Amino acid sequence: MTKVATTQTTGGAGADADFYLNADAFFRANLPTALTFDDVSLATLYSEILPKDADTSTQLSDALRLQIPIISSDMDTVTESRMAIAMALNGGLGLIHYNMPPKEQVKEVARVKRHIHGLIQDPITVAPDQLIGDLLAMIEAKRFAFSTFPVVDSQGRLAGLLSGNVVKDRYKTKKVADVMTPRAQLKTEKQRSVAKDPIKAADRFFTENVGVNKMLVVDDADHLRGLITASDVERITAEQKSRRKPARDLDFRLVVGAALSPVRQPDGALDRDKIIEHVEHLVSEHVDCVAVSTAHGHTAGVGDVVKLVRGAFKDLTIIAGNVTSGGGVSFLGECGANAIKIGQGPGSICTTRIVAGVGIPQLTALYVSSTAAKKAGVKLIADGGITKSGDIVKALTLADGVICGGLLAGCREAPGEILEINGKVYKQYRGMGSLSAMKAGSAARYGHDKNDNTRKVAAEGIEALKEVSGSVDDVLANLIGGVQSGMGYLGAGTLADLRSKARYTRVSPAGQKEAAPHDIIEVSTRTNRS
Ligand code: XMP
Repeated sequence: MTKVATTQTTGGAGADADFYLNADAFFRANLPTALTFDDVSLATLYSEILPKDADTSTQLSDALRLQIPIISSDMDTVTESRMAIAMALNGGLGLIHYNMPPKEQVKEVARVKRHIHGLIQDPITVAPDQLIGDLLAMIEAKRFAFSTFPVVDSQGRLAGLLSGNVVKDRYKTKKVADVMTPRAQLKTEKQRSVAKDPIKAADRFFTENVGVNKMLVVDDADHLRGLITASDVERITAEQKSRRKPARDLDFRLVVGAALSPVRQPDGALDRDKIIEHVEHLVSEHVDCVAVSTAHGHTAGVGDVVKLVRGAFKDLTIIAGNVTSGGGVSFLGECGANAIKIGQGPGSICTTRIVAGVGIPQLTALYVSSTAAKKAGVKLIADGGITKSGDIVKALTLADGVICGGLLAGCREAPGEILEINGKVYKQYRGMGSLSAMKAGSAARYGHDKNDNTRKVAAEGIEALKEVSGSVDDVLANLIGGVQSGMGYLGAGTLADLRSKARYTRVSPAGQKEAAPHDIIEVSTRTNRS
């Protein structure tokens, strides 16, 4: 085996080194042309890595680790809590958009953080004198996916458990106290005895208490201190055995990020108090990162927001962007960002390059940025223009993660209604710089004022439809399968290996034609191309 490896790795390399160039040599050799995904292909290398064994985990900051390097875009047709939950369960990250009232964004973050914890420390509770009808209205308004609630008195002491099968219209005029299982009949666990390993304790509890599917945790004074559900425990135990793990924080909550708007006062100055107050609320809900998302990150305004947040929250992971230059990366790094978003105009709904005449094809933008990222000690996230898994592999040769919008906008977990047109089903997908999105709040991202009726703002995005593409689980399984294949072809066991081993070639138009299915009659359009 060793002999074969030696022969394969060093012998007979011939012209390889002349034709397949590393990033420094390749991008410089192509000067002054800027290249994007389809312009290049990666050379394969001797490999001992089976795709299934390739480790796709990535670190976006000291505190934020993902199991897969894919992030759902902070767009109002892509990421709200449902998408963020699905992303984190698959090992990635969702960035909740900011085209909603700040309070609502905080709630969206809370929904993700409360989804399947090892121990839900702050479960939603109800009071004994509430009416079932009021609870039904609350469940509807807050879009809770559950209807069983612990009941606590005004001192926070456990008074009972309200089971989902009595939270029905039929009982709407009854009080919680009349239909709940009273405290005396409840089996509970003491906080002290479960603290060390809540999942193990809960596993034992559910085995011993047949038919019980909520474990309520109380302190010595009988205050409710937590809740664990049997289905969460089963899911978490199964996860521990499966290969792909969800992305969780140190307290076993799913990870989630939130986009930040550079809110301004009427005179144009940053509204520092509002920004800080909002981040405080996000942090109190345990948000894992904030993303200062703008079309032009190499600006005084974006730098000020990053500095402001960094000054007030020393340990919070900050993502900022977007830039496409080494200068932009160094600038945002110096302001305090941990990870920088790269991409100006590559997105599937972007018209920035057409409208403003600016932006750089994505792979060259990533290469140039990567040279500064190393010096600045920041991570890079490739944002936009990804249409297939091969693009992600190419992006990851220069970046630590990718952001996808269009690829996820057709998933059922994305916000928005499903539309049927001529028998086909679609979801809306719009640029955050489109007129309708800017009216809904994202104008600041593009340096405009949403209330400015005196002049017509220039849209830098379009409104579109995406064919409905199934679940996030399926889409991500395909994408990550492709990423792992790419890693296998390059003999890369980790993403760091992929970055160091990548060798590029330029693809001609004929080569691009050769790369896609050709000279055949396709019998299905649903090939595994994602
Ligand atoms: P994809 O290609 O994944 O791109 O659909 C998503 C990314 O595009 C950016 N974005 C925009 N860029 N005008 C732009 O120039 C817009 O209206 C717009 N909306 C989103 C954003 O970086 C997103 O992650």
